[in-house]
Amino acid sequence: MNTTTKLLAAGLAAGFLAVGFVAANGAATAADMSVIDKRKDLMKNVVGKNFGVVKDFIEKNKGSAADVKKAADALAAAAPKIAPLFVKGTGRPDVDPKKTRAEAKIWQDWAGFEKTAKALGDEAAKLSKAAAGGDKEAIKKQFAETGKNGCGACHKPFRGEEVK
Ligand code: HEC
Repeated sequence: MNTTTKLLAAGLAAGFLAVGFVAANGAATAADMSVIDKRKDLMKNVVGKNFGVVKDFIEKNKGSAADVKKAADALAAAAPKIAPLFVKGTGRPDVDPKKTRAEAKIWQDWAGFEKTAKALGDEAAKLSKAAAGGDKEAIKKQFAETGKNGCGACHKPFRGEEVK
């Protein structure tokens, strides 16, 4: 091993130790907090916002089918970004429940969590197709499916009650 490799190895080991330390002690680092902020931002300002565009179209006749298509495409693009923002050690009970609603079950059933994130992508792609067709009834039906299989299917098992 030359000096550079040695330093690199030491650095990596320290990095792993730091991660282990966080998980064991529940002391979230600044990096953990930023990942929590990032996923909340994605949920609120991308996922929630675009879902709201579709909801307003159906419930308030606001906007057009073209707006719905744009929103559905944004939802489909956001879906694969969800799981990587749920870094192990950044949920309950490691982090204060006032700061995150991410339940421990996410990491106990990681495959199930990834599956519901993928379901959102699949439902959003169908919503985009329905919107391209322009039929309001078809959009309405697929909006309900997206809410059920895309949002609810994940929130129900994996998002805990809000703690104030
Ligand atoms: C794969 C899982 C998953 C999917 C799919 C999902 N969510 Fe979430 N969402 C979560 C989790 C977990 C949280 C809590 C994150 C936290 O507090 O750290 C959350 C939080 C939120 C929040 C609150 C954000 C904040 O400011 O604290 C909103 C709004 C939201 N989701 C809307 C939606 C909508 C609308 C959909 C469907 C179009 C959706 N989500 C799909 C897992 C998911």
